[in-house]
Amino acid sequence: MDRMSSAGSSPADTEVGHSAEPGNYLSRCQVDTPAPLVAQVWRLVNERRPCAGQVVDFGCGDARFAQAGVFEHYTGFEIDSKRLPARTPDKASIRLESAFEAQCARGQFDVCVGNPPYVRHHDLGLSWIEAAERRLKAIDGYIADGRSNAYIYFTWLALDAVKNDGLVALVIPYEWISRPASGALRRYMHAQGWRVDVYHLEDARFERVLTTACIALIDKAPVDGQGGLHLHEIGLELDECRPRAHVTGTAEARLSYERARTGTKALRGLSPGSQDFFVLTEEFRQRYRLQRERDVVPAITSFRHLSTDQRTLTERLFRDEYVNAGRRCWLINPVGEPSRELTGYLATATAELRANYTCAKRAVWWKSSVPPPAQILYSSGFKTAAPKMFKNEAVAVHVGAIHGIYCAPKKSADKLLTQLLAMDFSKRVVPLSRGFLKIEVNQMNAVLNQLVSPK
Ligand SMILES: C[S@@+](CC[C@H](N)C(=O)[O-])C[C@H]1O[C@@H](n2cnc3c(N)ncnc32)[C@H](O)[C@@H]1O
Repeated sequence: MDRMSSAGSSPADTEVGHSAEPGNYLSRCQVDTPAPLVAQVWRLVNERRPCAGQVVDFGCGDARFAQAGVFEHYTGFEIDSKRLPARTPDKASIRLESAFEAQCARGQFDVCVGNPPYVRHHDLGLSWIEAAERRLKAIDGYIADGRSNAYIYFTWLALDAVKNDGLVALVIPYEWISRPASGALRRYMHAQGWRVDVYHLEDARFERVLTTACIALIDKAPVDGQGGLHLHEIGLELDECRPRAHVTGTAEARLSYERARTGTKALRGLSPGSQDFFVLTEEFRQRYRLQRERDVVPAITSFRHLSTDQRTLTERLFRDEYVNAGRRCWLINPVGEPSRELTGYLATATAELRANYTCAKRAVWWKSSVPPPAQILYSSGFKTAAPKMFKNEAVAVHVGAIHGIYCAPKKSADKLLTQLLAMDFSKRVVPLSRGFLKIEVNQMNAVLNQLVSPK
């Protein structure tokens, strides 16, 4: 099988899938980079390397990064033959093979450019992750993080593929400079003394991407004393740059990350392995004759539709707004032997679901460790001054983007909720997408540490 095509020739029309890719992996990650953004990436690269030398692009699609810029030769890797250009651009070759399985030497290229796939960790199969890690564990200092999005694995790969004085220039989500899942990657770059320039894009002009993007440039050979993180802002026209004071983009510094120092603590929402399967609507609960407590427990995955007029999630509100409104609200209860009815429902799970990262890691694929109901539930994503928060009288379990706060003592929940609802979090967290903010669990713990004094 011809896995390689060079400039001027047409690539082999053979499909080479990543051996480990789940069925819908590709559909999630095939978003093309708008031409003005490709041009801006190259402007920033050629400012630092007037001729980029040997260039690599992992996940090259139609090799559009070979259509601009000044370089000697470009090598693109792509797994989907349908994505390749009809004609390979000049000075380029394209290899139809997975970036993580390619037999290219480490430290071989001068520059790595591209827009790596964005696929959340729970949509990556365990075998996809294993294949990526087989390649990445060659890196001295590589630390795996099971919460990583696909683009984090590609960033590690890019750093390893360029020479000791190489440059990496990637279009990736801006969240990478703040999310805990990319912490090991940031610490690694810092320890190497590399220069990291992050250009926050006010509007990257992607057709169907909501996440705020940035251009990240990592220079392994910084001018003396210029290592470390440098933040910039790129405006709507994609051509003017200005410095950005804080990662938040406001005049205020980001909320710090702390572990809880008292019994009052925030805990992230449960990742059940697939909300579609593990959190049922009332209709499905009835169809499979599942019983509350024996088979399922109340659960909340979203507050999007709830108004903030009320501050308590009562049993009645739960019934009206979730159970009777047809929303997902019943979490599979993993305790003990499953009833005949639950066994019947579990038998409907697909092989793909059972093989996803979360399910495959468990002793029994469907048995998650469900946290006890917290006294306060809040949505980690928000658009106004503060996340939506409710006192949890419905004793619902927090799932996904809904996080929980355990209050010690429990009766302090009312007072704490009042204090939290009076706060403005919006200028102290990093925006994920236009107007959409997210507070991480340990940022909430830092807030709780301030509000609750240790006994
Ligand atoms: C976000 S798109 C970017 C495409 C193109 N470089 C651009 O900027 O428009 C990511 C590409 O990576 C490809 N891809 C995903 N996983 C890959 C892998 N393991 N190896 C090589 N290519 C991969 C996808 O098929 C997709 O074309």
